[in-house]
Amino acid sequence: MAKDVKTMNISPKVWKDGELIDWNDAKIHVMSHVVNYGSSVFEGIRCYNTTKGSAVFRLTEHIQRLINSAKIYRMDFPYDRQTLCDATVELIRESGLNECYIRPIVIRGLDEDNPAFGVNPFPNPINVYIATWQWGKYLGEEAIEAGIDVCVSSWTRITSNSLPSMAKAGANYMNSQLIKMEALLGGYSEGIALDDRGMVSEGSGENIFLVNNGKLYTPPLGASVLPGITRDSVIQIARDMGIEIVETSVQRAALYLADEVFLTGTAAEITPIRSIDKITVGSGRRGELTAAIQEQFFKVIYAERPAPNVAPWLTFVADTGEKKTAVA
Ligand SMILES: Cc1ncc(COP(=O)(O)O)c(C=O)c1O
Repeated sequence: MAKDVKTMNISPKVWKDGELIDWNDAKIHVMSHVVNYGSSVFEGIRCYNTTKGSAVFRLTEHIQRLINSAKIYRMDFPYDRQTLCDATVELIRESGLNECYIRPIVIRGLDEDNPAFGVNPFPNPINVYIATWQWGKYLGEEAIEAGIDVCVSSWTRITSNSLPSMAKAGANYMNSQLIKMEALLGGYSEGIALDDRGMVSEGSGENIFLVNNGKLYTPPLGASVLPGITRDSVIQIARDMGIEIVETSVQRAALYLADEVFLTGTAAEITPIRSIDKITVGSGRRGELTAAIQEQFFKVIYAERPAPNVAPWLTFVADTGEKKTAVA
């Protein structure tokens, strides 16, 4: 039976290949390539109800990463970056949601008149969808202030020459699921994976930062991490605050000795870590630098201060009849 999705804070419309369709019609065949072989690339984006109206955070960068992910997997589609940005804004406007999470996803589907069931992806059609819904704090309301308890995962993070972490591909998240399930079943909120060299990589869905003697450390992109847009935002904000950033390989043991540790991600935003493998991090609560960076980050997100670089980070949703990307 068709669901009344409005009551579930889900947009009743989904953008599909250039048009808005009903949520209840956004369905695929079970024998689609993506279901059998994990062939999707996607994004996770947030729209905030800012002091100047609803605005999408770093929309252009997210859509560019989607295009990059699709390029790596040779998924061609006829929509350019601006078209997908405009489609996202149109969908949010249509949804009536003033704060939401946005999920663009590109999949290899099934041509039911000319079906192909093998691994070879090329015969399958490519479909582009964008959905949106209201989503609260990913790691819990309290986490942003109180911090979370995490473990180091026994699972190794995907390696760059098997499943490239530069792409945000659906298949990567089988690895993330192993990490997340192990953490949850062990009583932790999140798991931190090491890369194939045994160096710190990232969480199941977040990048990681350490603070030591007032400096910020984060694993480089070569440590099989997703090039996180929140990671980039934190780096730019911290630089703007005069904090030194070091992108370097991080040993597991360094996690235990750090003054502060936090996770970053569109879903997790900036979430402090208070313990790792039951070893208390610093004072066991949100550190000073973490709080200071969080404060600036949320100010940028809610349009209370400009972004630290010249390109705007907010795309306003309201139809002003002008160019949608305003300077904030
Ligand atoms: C594996 C992984 N790492 C890092 C991130 C953080 O990336 P971003 O800040 O762009 O959301 C995510 C979230 O998308 C993720 O899934």
